[in-house]
Order: sequence, then structure tokens, then C-alpha cells
Amino acid sequence: MKIADIPTIANLVHAANPDALVIVDNTMMSPILMNCLSLGADIEFHSATKYLSGHHDLMAGVIAVKDKAVADRIYFIINSIGCGLAPFDSFLLLRGIKTLALRVDRQQSNAIKIAQFLESAGYRVNYPGLDSHPQKALHFSMAKGAGAVLSFTTGDIQKSERIVEATKLWGISVSFGCVNSLISMPCNMSHASIPAEVRKARALPEDLIRLCVGIEDVEDLLDDLKRALAAGEKEQKKVITSPPVSSSSALPSQPLLLATARL
Ligand SMILES: Cc1ncc(COP(=O)(O)O)c(C=O)c1O
Repeated sequence: MKIADIPTIANLVHAANPDALVIVDNTMMSPILMNCLSLGADIEFHSATKYLSGHHDLMAGVIAVKDKAVADRIYFIINSIGCGLAPFDSFLLLRGIKTLALRVDRQQSNAIKIAQFLESAGYRVNYPGLDSHPQKALHFSMAKGAGAVLSFTTGDIQKSERIVEATKLWGISVSFGCVNSLISMPCNMSHASIPAEVRKARALPEDLIRLCVGIEDVEDLLDDLKRALAAGEKEQKKVITSPPVSSSSALPSQPLLLATARL
């Protein structure tokens, strides 16, 4: 998980061209944790499908703009193409926003406990709330919290696949920001359309597991994860101890059936 230095980027861009617009997707932090316009961005947008809604029962987007003239141009486009939100979705979104602070608070307090557990169990964890994150100071210079999305590697793709499949409470899905906890393998799911060589060039580990932490009881989430991790360890032992297969009779690895959401 890499943190972008928004003030530095905005200063560099505006120095190079004062008319250039710096646009930030702030979905992962939500407005309760970070305000990109006050960090120098010109436009900040959110997939309101995620934290703002909080319940995965609508699809929406929010665009926040610093300059009225830019806002007028965006409004003109939205009005012209008719992509404004329907009344019922607007109602659901406004209702979701009322509990944003409570949800994010709980999601973050669950996330840090899960990140600490995984790190103490020997996994390499990416979460800006941990002291081990190399950009923790930069993150907290911009945001009020670490958010509730983290990832970890296991060192073995099959082990990661087994862990994801073995969870019961964590739903297998690519989204985040919902009250339910979700688990996914980006290289098999959300980032599967990116060619493998590009994923490698961008240093995206194939065994990476992403956790999007919800508001459930953290002990239940930890129990389920511990059970899934144990299933993953078993899978790894099975692979290591099984006799080698000759390349001519080796079957191509089975695609993981992760695309089915279990929400
Ligand atoms: C960071 C981020 N921004 C925007 C989007 C787009 O969201 P939507 O599905 O609401 O269009 C996604 C979707 O996963 C996302 O992860």
C-alpha cells in the first residue's frame, strides 16, 4: 500500500502549470479521515458506493470541487447526460452518511487489531496504522486515521488462495467500505485484467491478500481468520510433501473461483 504525497504533488503540478487540475480519488479514506481539497487538490471524488453508503446497497459517486467555475462545468455535464442520482438512492446515501463516523471508527479499531495480529503471526502486512509502514508519518501528516483496508502476503499463491477460500465470515468480494468484512486476492480478482508482466513491474505480489475490515465483533473476525490461516498452512504442507509431478503430465493450475461474491 503506497501513500501518495498529495501536497508535494499538488505544489509540483501547480508550479509547472497553474491551470492544471489535481484530482484525487479519496474513496479509501472517506471525507471523515482526509480532505484532499485542503491538501492542495482541485477536485476530490469518492465512490459513494463504499464508505459513504456503508451498506453496499447503492451505486453512487460524489465530486467535491474547489473552484466554482470548475463545479459549474461538471454540473453542466452531469445535467446534460442525466447521470444524477435517483431519489431513492439519494435517500439511502444520505442515511448512510449519518453513520459514517461511527462505522469508520469501529472499522479502524478492528483493522489495527487484525493488522497487529497478522504481523505478530509473521506475515508481511501493509497498513499505514502499523509502525512498520515506511510511510506512516507521511500518511498521518495528511489523514486523521489509517482507514480499514489492509493487505498481507503469505509467500505462496496456493496458500493465499486456500486462506481466502477457507474464510466463512469474511465475504469474498473486491469492494470495500461496507459494514461487512471482505477478503480478496487482487491479482486473481480486481487486478486480474492487468497483464501479469505489468503487475510484476508495479511490484504487485501475486500472493497478496486484501482485507477490508467491517464492523463485526473483532474476536469473530480474528477467529475466522486464524482458522483460514491454519487451512492455508495445511495446504502449503500438502504441496511441499506431495511427490513432484513431471512437466508433461502437470495440469495447468485451476483458476480460483473467487469471482463469486458471497455477500
Ligand atoms: C478507489 C476506488 N475508486 C472508485 C471506484 C469506483 O467505484 P464505483 O463502483 O462506485 O463506480 C472503485 C471501485 O472499486 C475504487 O476501488
